[in-house]
Amino acid sequence: MANLQLTDDVPSVADDGVWLTCIECGESFAPFEEVRYTCDDCDGLLEARYADLPTFDEFEGEGVWRYSAALPFEEGVTLPEGNTPLHRVPRIEKEVGVESLRVKHEGMNPTGSFKDRGMTVGVRVAKEIGVGRLACASTGNTSAALAAYGARGGMETLVLLPAGKVAAGKIAQAALHKARILEVDGNFDECLDIVQDLAGRGEAYLLNSLNPFRLEGQKTIGLEIMEEHYEDYGEYPDRIVLPVGNAGNTAALYKCFRELVKAGEITEDQVPRITGAQAEGAAPMVEAIEEGNDETRRWEEVETRATAIRIGNPVNAPKALPGIRETGGTAVAVSDEEITDAQRDLAGEGVGVEPASAASIAGLRKLRDRGVVSDDESVVCLTTGHLLKDPDAAAEAGNDPEPVDNSTEAVLDLLDEN
Ligand code: F0G
Repeated sequence: MANLQLTDDVPSVADDGVWLTCIECGESFAPFEEVRYTCDDCDGLLEARYADLPTFDEFEGEGVWRYSAALPFEEGVTLPEGNTPLHRVPRIEKEVGVESLRVKHEGMNPTGSFKDRGMTVGVRVAKEIGVGRLACASTGNTSAALAAYGARGGMETLVLLPAGKVAAGKIAQAALHKARILEVDGNFDECLDIVQDLAGRGEAYLLNSLNPFRLEGQKTIGLEIMEEHYEDYGEYPDRIVLPVGNAGNTAALYKCFRELVKAGEITEDQVPRITGAQAEGAAPMVEAIEEGNDETRRWEEVETRATAIRIGNPVNAPKALPGIRETGGTAVAVSDEEITDAQRDLAGEGVGVEPASAASIAGLRKLRDRGVVSDDESVVCLTTGHLLKDPDAAAEAGNDPEPVDNSTEAVLDLLDEN
């Protein structure tokens, strides 16, 4: 079982108060001297650690870099990112029946997903280490973000995508931002196996969420939510519901809350319950939570309309499963139909999201129906990607365009008909 306890001991390998620790065996490593993604000794996941933990009064400015006190650098390769809206959705709030419901729309980041928060830090670290080619496997959004931030940083980018399973908007982004795009005849997990192999052979710097620095940037979603929710309601949210694929974001939120508790900024009771939502056809995290396992089983066959979370082997599970359990959260699987319904409902409030994002609302609805979430909870749902990422899914879920003759009379006739 992973040890995610933050300690006060600063190892001699620390660089300016930052180091990497293996969550399995506790070994520490210098953060920027050599490229490594997992522990040299036991292959466990690594986590960035700090001598000084952040306090709310240190934060100033806007966006991800407002939180530089919680990050390894003062500034990054930026577009800029973060500072996303925390929408009110009164109709869904009423229908679901909770004390309050807010939607943190991460689709409003520069490339249209939360991945930008991780990339601004990850590409900055790549520059520090001095690597050549940046690479990732992706269900689409990571590749779009990597391509844009790589371009911004003047670096070469390579992305491996599961052929035929990535939404059009995301491929268009990677293409125009000049990534080299390799379409693999396999699923996301197999693409990640290959990229890990390439990275291990020194062919590329890996910027998937296995890279611990990506998760540092993504922690800022939690920090923004905590600050804004407190400002609006005088308290922190009881629960955060988010779509889960590789479980990087789940791990990042838990890291955010562990650091705030360790810094004495919030108490254990004030940590929101981290609640994951997966598509039924790709739900290894839900399976592990329901069966009480410490590890996930790799699903070889995965399928869902929410292609962003079409993932069968969540590599961050060792960090994310304790996050869900220790905060009193849970995980829930939702069908593609439930996802599409939630996507329509969000759109009906003016919030346009891609299918995977709507899994959070669909998951909340299901947990409320089951009585797992109670009516007195204040909830924040994350919506992770923008509607325009997957125009085909949006068109399919939405109204059909109607052909009409080229005259006002014809338009009026049509309007009169129904
Ligand atoms: N939502 C969206 C829109 C995503 O693109 C992803 C992951 C997730 C949720 C899941 O986040 O992996 O941190 O649990 N997309 C990755 C990609 C895998 O390649 O774009 P996670």
